[in-house]
Amino acid sequence: MIKTGVTLAGVELKNPVMTASGTFGSGAEYSEFVDLNRLGAVVTKGVANVPWSGNPTPRVTETASGMLNAIGLQNPGIDLFCKRDIPFLKQYDTKIVVNVCGKSTEDYCEVVERLADEPVDLLEINVSCPNVKEGGIAFGQNPKALEAITKEVKKYAKQPIIMKLSPNVTDITEMARAAEAGGADILSLINTLTGMKIDIYRRAFALANKTGGMSGPAVKPVAVRMVYQVAQAVSLPIIGMGGIATAEDALEFIMAGATAVSVGTANFFNPYATVEIAEGIENFMREQHVEDIHELIGAVK
Ligand SMILES: Cc1cc2nc3c(=O)[nH]c(=O)nc-3n(C[C@H](O)[C@H](O)[C@H](O)COP(=O)(O)O)c2cc1C
Repeated sequence: MIKTGVTLAGVELKNPVMTASGTFGSGAEYSEFVDLNRLGAVVTKGVANVPWSGNPTPRVTETASGMLNAIGLQNPGIDLFCKRDIPFLKQYDTKIVVNVCGKSTEDYCEVVERLADEPVDLLEINVSCPNVKEGGIAFGQNPKALEAITKEVKKYAKQPIIMKLSPNVTDITEMARAAEAGGADILSLINTLTGMKIDIYRRAFALANKTGGMSGPAVKPVAVRMVYQVAQAVSLPIIGMGGIATAEDALEFIMAGATAVSVGTANFFNPYATVEIAEGIENFMREQHVEDIHELIGAVK
């Protein structure tokens, strides 16, 4: 019997495959394609204390082997989310991870406090979105601010906290250590890389926001490198993401030190990606005579 189960801060996942925030709605959109029972966890789109309408359009565009987005964290707000999205996900035998966004420390804490008594397994704090003017990245690019917000959020949280790191920094290990010092339980990385595309025929920016977050297969080597560096720097479990589209991609992250992985942009070009990756990891383990996935986590030193 092959063991694919992993534990993140005491929360047991049947396999290491999760969805990446913002690319899978809150599960409902994809449930026609994907049996959510087969996923380790579903990570929801970021939710704030009040509804946000997001940025003006156009806010997505394709790039070579990837995409740029500047959605701006459009979301229904915590009230509707708790009423509609959590009960939907509760029907499935998978773990629920709620991604939290905000413009100030108080905003984040309000959402975290509100979720304390909801049937949610983990909270992922998005301090790394490059597409909102206030909050978000302001915390994710300054180690002191990251440590402070982590400490504050921990005061209100009943669930373990995942701090989601930005790759838009000089030294990712400095940020990882700051989150660890603040009391983070788990780290996830990477969020998107800030980029730009110009429409030469319109002589204009392709995105109304001018810049956007780059994701998809093109970012994978950067993400694998960062996961490896963070795994060497801290002792917290890591959720790795950035360009994962196949089981082979996921296994690179796991061998670099990730306990679990999130699949994002790949859901847009292959809605079955998550389940295919979970199956592919199991097939690889069978072929390579690996009994327990823990033999692969951080296997590359
Ligand atoms: C359209 C889109 C929306 C996203 N929304 C969020 C979000 O709400 N919160 C968040 O933490 N990350 C968000 N992300 C970042 C992803 O969760 C992920 O970190 C990133 O895209 C890298 O993974 P990928 O290359 O597999 O997409 C978003 C990414 C995309 C492409």
